[in-house]
Amino acid sequence: MIQLSDVGLIGLGVMGANLALNLESKGWRVSVWNRTAPGVGKSSVQRFMDAHAEGRRLAGFSGLSAFVASLSRPRVVIVMVPAGAAVDEVVGNLLPLLSPGDVLVDGGNSHYADTERRVQLLRMRGVHFVGAGVSGGAEGARYGASIMPGGADEARPVVMPLLESIAARAADGTPCCSWIGPGGAGHFVKMVHNGIEYADMQLIAETYALLGALGRLDNESRAGLFEQWNGGRLRSYLMEITAAILRRREPGGGYLLDRILDVAGQKGTGRWTVTAALDLGVPQDAVASAVFQRALSAHKEQRAMVSSFLGTRPVAVVPVAELSAELEQALYAARLVAYAQGFELIEAASRSFDWAVDAASVARLWRGGCIIRSAFLDDIAGAFEAGEAGQGLLLSSRFLAPLCEALPHWRRVVSRSVTDGVAVPVFSALLNYLHALSTERLPAHLIQAQRDYFGAHTFERVDDLRGHFHHEDWTAPPMPGPSANS
Ligand code: 6PG
Repeated sequence: MIQLSDVGLIGLGVMGANLALNLESKGWRVSVWNRTAPGVGKSSVQRFMDAHAEGRRLAGFSGLSAFVASLSRPRVVIVMVPAGAAVDEVVGNLLPLLSPGDVLVDGGNSHYADTERRVQLLRMRGVHFVGAGVSGGAEGARYGASIMPGGADEARPVVMPLLESIAARAADGTPCCSWIGPGGAGHFVKMVHNGIEYADMQLIAETYALLGALGRLDNESRAGLFEQWNGGRLRSYLMEITAAILRRREPGGGYLLDRILDVAGQKGTGRWTVTAALDLGVPQDAVASAVFQRALSAHKEQRAMVSSFLGTRPVAVVPVAELSAELEQALYAARLVAYAQGFELIEAASRSFDWAVDAASVARLWRGGCIIRSAFLDDIAGAFEAGEAGQGLLLSSRFLAPLCEALPHWRRVVSRSVTDGVAVPVFSALLNYLHALSTERLPAHLIQAQRDYFGAHTFERVDDLRGHFHHEDWTAPPMPGPSANS
């Protein structure tokens, strides 16, 4: 009798192949299928099977029907193909072969609105669709990722044992995988993860630039500092790899980093985060600045031209001990505010779409496996769990004192950068956000007056109830008021 597989995997790119191997190593029997490009010699299924099948419970298929027939019921198929049209194509091809009760999991970086649509579409056919954010790159896919599933609730008991088995484990042993919520909730949370990733990477890049420009530190010394910080409260995967990158030498001498073109790529999840934030009306200063910095980095020729006219050379040399102490504080505080913004976006989406996302479990599942994993997420999870974040993470008792302590250092870092013409867009955007957030009366009343002046858009008054709107005829002579001595 042919033994049926527990799970099917479609898409044998780097992530898909590694997830298949991870699943198999956890005791699941796995069937794999990949679309075959015509006339390319050995198919990717054959190559995968040749390289990995021996001694493993893997079954490879060249036909989609045979692949589906090889799965035990309810069938679970994990799709690992590029986001967008490729997912719709796979779903379209699979749907006629699936039965009510079967489960389809999209493990790519799909847009949450597409996931929302697919959940509804497949529900009409009785198939349960799950959009699972998977973070951790190839290494995570193979040995333990951070996984954010959401979608059709009926799929939950079927997929959670599979996904939890291949998730990374946090230091306390819990799997870095929790059910996020209905519809596109899982992919929304993954998108915000990537937004925070953009902000964190840009903050680290700005720190690296400042250590060079104001501290005149070489790559080795900068690597030493990142390593030192990685031993403390800034401990994180991104700090760790930054130190390793700074130390990487070329076979012929010199540092690899110094030869990498300063044009940053992006696949879209950072941009999506900003778009979602604009739609929901939630500030995302850090992610927006980080996305625009990547865009500006691509304008290489224009930058070269403008720098020949307006370029500055920092004159200050700041003693290393002073600069590094300031930067450690600034990085801690800016990172805290960036994460707080990310969680606010998740909570706003959860309210708006009725997802009931549990922020504490999001923080907990980001503690291991994913790109933004860091020591700091333990504290964030703790703050949510203890109910300290009701007025936002920043006012939680565990963050308020360190934030107040760091603030003068952060301001000093930004003011030194501005004085010496070093671009620190994310450090300064977040600082301005914090300054605005902590200003009781913003100049927004002037904006309201201008709107009312040119467009009769009305305004509320401080001496009347909220929701009562007034209009002024700004060009008419002012109404006579009570006389000065009445
Ligand atoms: C992860 C990463 C992963 C991918 C990013 C890169 O969580 O494992 O975020 O999803 O590396 O999509 O994104 P950019 O190409 O936009 O930097």
